[in-house]
Amino acid sequence: MCTQPILDSTLRSSDAAEFEEALRAKIVSQEEAVQAMVDLYQVFSAGLNSPGRPVGSLLFLGPTGSGKTRIVEAAAEILFGDPRAVIKVDCGEFQHSHEISKLIGSPPGYLGHRETHPLITQEALSANHTDKLKLSFLLFDEIEKASDALWQLLLGMLDKATLTLGDNRRVDLSQTVIFMTSNLGGGEITELMHGGMGFIQPQDKPISGLDQKVERTAAEAARRKFSPEFMNRLDKVVVFRPLRQEQLAEVLAIELAAVQKRVLETANGRFVFRVTHAGREFLLQEGTDRRYGARHLKRAIERHLVCPLANLLATNQVNTGDTLYVDWDARVGPLVFWKESDAVSKAVQRQQPVQFQVMKAVGGRPVEAPSAAKARGAANK
Ligand SMILES: Nc1ncnc2c1ncn2[C@@H]1O[C@H](COP(=O)(O)OP(=O)(O)OP(=O)(O)O)[C@@H](O)[C@H]1O
Ligand SMILES: [Mg+2]
Repeated sequence: MCTQPILDSTLRSSDAAEFEEALRAKIVSQEEAVQAMVDLYQVFSAGLNSPGRPVGSLLFLGPTGSGKTRIVEAAAEILFGDPRAVIKVDCGEFQHSHEISKLIGSPPGYLGHRETHPLITQEALSANHTDKLKLSFLLFDEIEKASDALWQLLLGMLDKATLTLGDNRRVDLSQTVIFMTSNLGGGEITELMHGGMGFIQPQDKPISGLDQKVERTAAEAARRKFSPEFMNRLDKVVVFRPLRQEQLAEVLAIELAAVQKRVLETANGRFVFRVTHAGREFLLQEGTDRRYGARHLKRAIERHLVCPLANLLATNQVNTGDTLYVDWDARVGPLVFWKESDAVSKAVQRQQPVQFQVMKAVGGRPVEAPSAAKARGAANK
């Protein structure tokens, strides 16, 4: 029996703990994926990654719109200051073996050799290195669509951490994390979620049973589709869970905060906007569902919120320092906007009923303004 004090091998370094916290602020749920990312970061920063192999190779499986691509972008944003600091290979674009030259360039002498600029090069990989962190992210999206030629390349990269370009230059991937995503089994998972009886609401059935089934379905689909030699080369397979309604609402809150940040960075529009409960429900309905997760959320926010905000700004209906309320009214259809004027602030202070000034951001007809009490109450939700 050991008589020495037991060391805490679960304790993270402060920068790994900071990375984890920052990732959790951007990614809703997906605990296993967050842990996998932090483990990887900790192993790399301690210098314990295997020599001659990529820093890590992770396969992310799970339904569409559950955060598989987003977690890689979020990690890049945190570590390199830019969500686009990822070399992204959309495998759907490389379904034919001859298209592989777009990835690695064609051999000298081939037609078009000079015009093809390989996507994966040493320079591209090191472009995002910082003084502190010499790490690169390489992401293969929709891996199930890869051609045989791409599979061969990938197996070589996973095995030896090198890639030979068309002109025989070698790319070293030993400072690179290789991520792969697939929504294989997505159809079956959707089927599971529908259960043949419409949507299974979380309150009707405990999510955990569904969750386990999703995991099993994805893993089985991967085993059916991918060769054992590929599966054996992976460090980890993480199955992303479908997001529940309240988690989708959290994703919406993150996205709204991102829009607010953008607004605060504009030259003349440093105003604050608050979206009421009804407004949020409307955006959720437009941008998310159980089948597509949060896949269309950004698009719905751009269409229903960002474009009208741009109209309001460009027509000087909203200015620096204003507080803008964003609400939804079934009689109008899209979102409605109004701002708290001086008179409103004073009336609110005196607890008198007030009229809000409704803004025509989308050309809709003005609607009866909600009461100050409703606006205050709802916006605080
Ligand atoms: N878990 C999550 N946390 C935060 N945002 C999320 C999450 N899941 C989805 N999103 C939001 O939804 C958008 C789409 O998600 P993402 O691109 O990661 O889907 P995906 O799982 O890669 O789906 P697909 O298999 O269709 O590529 C993201 O840009 C992000 O705004
Ligand atoms: Mg994706």
